[in-house]
Parts: sequence; C-alpha cells; structure tokens
Amino acid sequence: MNAARRTRLDQLPEWHALAKHREDFGGTGLRTLFADDPGRAERFGLQVGDLYLDYSKHLVTDETLRLLRELAAATGVEQLRDAMFDGEKINVTEDRAVLHTALRTPVAARVDVDGEDVVPKVHSVLAKMALFAHKVRDGHWRGHTGKPIRTVVNIGIGGSDLGPKMAYEALRPYTERDMQFRFVSNVDGADLHEAVRDVDPAETLFVVASKTFTTVETITNATAARRWLLEGLGGDEAAVARHFVAVSTNAEKVAEFGIDTENMFEFWDWVGGRYSYDSAIGLSLMVAIGPDCFNEMLAGFHLVDEHFRMAPAEANAPLLMGLLGIWYGNFFDAQSHAVLPYSHYFSQFTAYLQQLDMESDGKSTDRAGRPVSWQTGPVVWGTPGTNGQHAYYQLLHQGTRLIPADLIGFACPALGLGELAGQHDLLMANLFAQGQALAFGKTEEEVRAEGVPEAQVPHRTFPGSRPTTTILAEELTPSVLGQLVALYEHKVFVQGAVWDIDSFDQWGVELGKVLAKRLEPALADGAEVEGLDASTAALVNRYRRLRGR
Ligand code: F6P
Repeated sequence: MNAARRTRLDQLPEWHALAKHREDFGGTGLRTLFADDPGRAERFGLQVGDLYLDYSKHLVTDETLRLLRELAAATGVEQLRDAMFDGEKINVTEDRAVLHTALRTPVAARVDVDGEDVVPKVHSVLAKMALFAHKVRDGHWRGHTGKPIRTVVNIGIGGSDLGPKMAYEALRPYTERDMQFRFVSNVDGADLHEAVRDVDPAETLFVVASKTFTTVETITNATAARRWLLEGLGGDEAAVARHFVAVSTNAEKVAEFGIDTENMFEFWDWVGGRYSYDSAIGLSLMVAIGPDCFNEMLAGFHLVDEHFRMAPAEANAPLLMGLLGIWYGNFFDAQSHAVLPYSHYFSQFTAYLQQLDMESDGKSTDRAGRPVSWQTGPVVWGTPGTNGQHAYYQLLHQGTRLIPADLIGFACPALGLGELAGQHDLLMANLFAQGQALAFGKTEEEVRAEGVPEAQVPHRTFPGSRPTTTILAEELTPSVLGQLVALYEHKVFVQGAVWDIDSFDQWGVELGKVLAKRLEPALADGAEVEGLDASTAALVNRYRRLRGR
C-alpha cells in the first residue's frame, strides 16, 4: 500500500536552497520588486486558454521561481502527473487510479485502467445522461401522475453536492429558468424540509448522488424524500421509479435502496468524490444547463488538462500556482489562502474549493507512511467580492498574518446580465483596487501628506506586500468554469506531489463518522456508550435533559 520512500522533502538540497533564498529575501516588499524590475508586470503574466493570470504581485523574483521549479523537478511532480494521466494507481492508500482527467477526454482518446480503455464507458454514460437531461428538460420525462418535472432536487453531500451546486450557481444564466433546482446535503432535516416545502411532489425529481451509496446523510435524506413523495402521491410505490434516479459507483446499494438500476448513472472508483462533478455526479447540473453547455464545460476542463500535461514548467499555470502556495506556506509560514471571486455567480466557488483543497492536502503523513515535518495544505476560505471587503478585508490589509489571495474576475457580465447601470465596471474597479492596495499599501509619508493628524498616522498606514494572483477571463462561460476548476484541481495536485502526501484519500473524515454512529443511540435511548470520555458524556446527558428524555 505504501509508496516508495522518497528523500524527505526537508532534506533535499533544493529545499535548503529555497530556505536560504528566503533568508536573503528578508522583508523585500512589492514596491521594491516593482521599482527594481519594470518589466515584471508583463513577464509575470500567463495566458492559458481563456484565463489570464497576473502573478506579478507576488513576493518572488525570477530566482525564486527558478528555485521553486527546481524543487518541483526534484520532487518528481512531472513524473507523478504523467502517472496520473496514464491511469497508474497513484492513490496509494486506496490502491486506486486517479483519473478525473479521463472524464473530459475526447472520445477518440484512450486511457487504460487495469488494461481496459475507460473512455468508451465515460462517453456512454455521458450519452445516457444527455438523453435523460433532454427528456426532463423538454417534458418527455413525466412524473407518476403524468405531469412534467418542474423541480429537480439533488441529494448528496461533499463531492456529490458541492460541485454540482457550485457549477449550477456559477452557470445560472445558462440554466433552464422554467425549472427550479435545489441541493440538499445536510443531515439536519431542515435542509430537506426547506427544499420541498413549497413544491409539488408530482412535479419533483430527486437525483440521489452518492459515490458509495452508503453515506449516512444522503441515505437518510433520500429515505425521507421517498417518504415525502409517497405521502404526497397516495402511497403507490410505483411512483418511486418516475421520481428517483441515482448516481453512484455502487449498483448493489442503489438497488437495495429501491431505485431501479435502469435509472442509475454510473461512475467509477477512479473518480474521487471531490473530483467528480464532471462525471455523472453532474447530472442535475446537466439537466439545468443542458448537454451542450455541459460538454462545453468538459472541453474547458480538458483544455487545462492538456496545458498542465504539456506546457513547460516556466509557463505551466497549475504548477506555478501550486509552487507559489508552497513558497508562502513553507517559507513564510502562511496558514491560509483566500479565494476572492468578484462574481455574484461564484457564491459557492470557495466552498467547493475548500473540499477540493483541504480534503486533498490536509494530511500529515507522507505517501510512505511517515509523519511529515513540513506544513501541508492551507486553510482555504473566502467569499465573493465586494461583500468580503466590508467584512474581513480589514485583516487582509492590516492584520498581523500574511494571507496570499486569488482575485478572480470577468471582464464582461455573463450573457450581458448584471450590466445594470454600468455596475460591472464598479465591481471590477474594486477587484483591481484591492489587488493594488494589498500589494502597495500606503506609507506613513503618504498618509501624512494627506494632512492626517499624527496620532492617526500609524492606524491609517497600510503595509502592503500582501501577495495576490489575479485571474481574469473575458466572461464566465461553461468552458471558463471548467478551465478554472481544472486549474485548481491541478494546483492542489502539484502541492500534494511536492509535499509527498496522498492527495486522493480522505481517512481523516472517518473517525467522526464512526463516533457519531456510536453516539446516536445514546442520544435517542440513553444507551450506554463504552469508554465515553467525561466531557462528551456530560454533553450527551445535558442534551437528553434538554430534550426531556
Ligand atoms: O466524508 C467525505 C466523503 O467521503 C467525501 O470524500 C465525499 O465527497 C463525500 O463523503 C460523499 O461521499 P459519497 O459520494 O460516497 O456519498
């Protein structure tokens, strides 16, 4: 199960060279870097497909970038990348291939897993999804009482929720506006209640999305949804077939739940949950935006896959983004990374990235099973601008922590929407202004020159040198969304490869699940839980008292 032992990251000469470079770098700020290097804005820019990356506002020089690339070379990032694309089992702890890239491979390509080409399977599921999506969208798929579907409720959690929900919100202008789409994930019954309280069961379709089809939240919600449906439709079990479809790798469990496997859309164990929304997990999304837009999105993913696979290190955007994160996390001790999209449609983007990044690289054991002695994945957070500016940007500008950030924006409003009263220029002016303020701040002299009373000068000074990447695209289209997500997927991959961790398992989520299962009977019936610690036992008792038990 373990990978070959690699030389420890912190014993590599390339690591030490970077540590030395960091010492030499000292407190060199962005004002100095720009003053010393007038060509920097142009040189530190990269065009990938429709995405332009400006990384000039980073605390790096050509030398820093060269040393970071050398670290990537020494840690075998390219080799691991090629192994991933080739279907090798690089998820070592689960002995699985990692092939989300095969989900967006053109039909003519070939990708083998255990000697079998998976591309025909991928395209056959896509075709089945497209047929289904068309039928639901054009009203040919009828509910049990003969009515067309008006509401689609996706039931899933984690990767079976965050991806489709994020993409649905991002691509709202492209969605079928005569239908409504809801996403239920939380085991808190309020989530399902709110999703169905105002809809007609006769016009509602549930897409139960779960890779394993054993996830307690999803099965609990799906069971409750089935009860709600049957109550609403007079109790005829035959209704389930017209109102429930499943997306899973586990046909047996789907059948056990009572969904006809004819109505199941398959994917495979080589697709990680958090990398799955371009598989059948995207079924609700496909119904919302239609198969053509879904295919455009896949093409966007593929474009960046090819870039990541083929572009030289100096011009490889995911490699660069991953390495910049390593520079700050490992050599500046940055603890978190902010993702700040300037698009209302990106309300769920950072939440989606939290799972992608933190479930992938939140590890402290290397691929050979040894504890790591370097920082791994950062805390990823953020919300769309400009709202965050009136909440937490204060800390970004003047707090004591260094928080690198990505500013993401689009030159034109999606499909011309949001162009109300020229608001888009104002939105984008804010994005550019924030990058500028974070980078260059405001010196004491500049504050004084404004006539600010001396006592206020320290408070109104901005240190600057807060690094950002600006990612700019013409418009948020399905393809651009695919390009952006693939960019972040591969960034996360690069970091995991350098840190020598398995970015594709998630053992850290298991303990809480097991403990919750053990505790539930104690809450409900007061059952004895063996070996329960004093704090948790007291909380359980208090809970029971509050519930009058
Ligand atoms: O609990 C973590 C996790 O396993 C995620 O990795 C996954 O995306 C989520 O649960 C949902 O899992 P499933 O799709 O099997 O229901």
